[in-house]
Amino acid sequence: MRVILTSLIQIIYKGGVTLSVNNAMTADFLRSAYGGESMAHMRYLIWGDVAEKEGLPNIGKLFKAISYAEWAHAKNHFRELSEQKGDFTVAAGAVFGNTKTVENLQGAINGELHEINQMYPVYLETARFQKERGAEKSFHWALEAEKIHAKLFQEAQDAAKSGQDYQINSVHVCPFCGHTILNEAPDKCPICGAPKDKYKSF
Ligand SMILES: [Fe+2]
Ligand SMILES: [Fe+2]
Repeated sequence: MRVILTSLIQIIYKGGVTLSVNNAMTADFLRSAYGGESMAHMRYLIWGDVAEKEGLPNIGKLFKAISYAEWAHAKNHFRELSEQKGDFTVAAGAVFGNTKTVENLQGAINGELHEINQMYPVYLETARFQKERGAEKSFHWALEAEKIHAKLFQEAQDAAKSGQDYQINSVHVCPFCGHTILNEAPDKCPICGAPKDKYKSF
């Protein structure tokens, strides 16, 4: 009886005080999302340089700002895995190819749409089903930000296809959830509620 009671107390204690995920499938999805976001972060930095060299500085700026948003997503997923120590082989989707900016933007759009239409909705529902509240929030924040990224990359590609740079002044990114907005940060992040002065500007 005492053993059962002690185990029960340990389970309750563990669930209450750590960021740890308790279910293997949500943990797998967090690791995969962490891998995907990490690669997106790097890919957008590389594609940002390509755009700048092509004489498209605003598209370069957009890539670098969104790269920062993907870093925020990777960081959130990684934090949720804080108690999952050890080495893992991570399988994650990633777009490859590094050619002209119009084509790189198509890769970016394809990657974002995969996250919006397939990856994050499935990961989010799994976390919800498994009552993994931290992972649920991390996936929800990423999903909402990716919807904006797909739209911005599409607009940038429309400009690039007509031989123009993207007509924007600045890009602002919430460091907590990756919310991304053109020209001016809002008073309050519409996804996570962070105040305007926390946004990072590009
Ligand atoms: Fe994104
Ligand atoms: Fe936010």
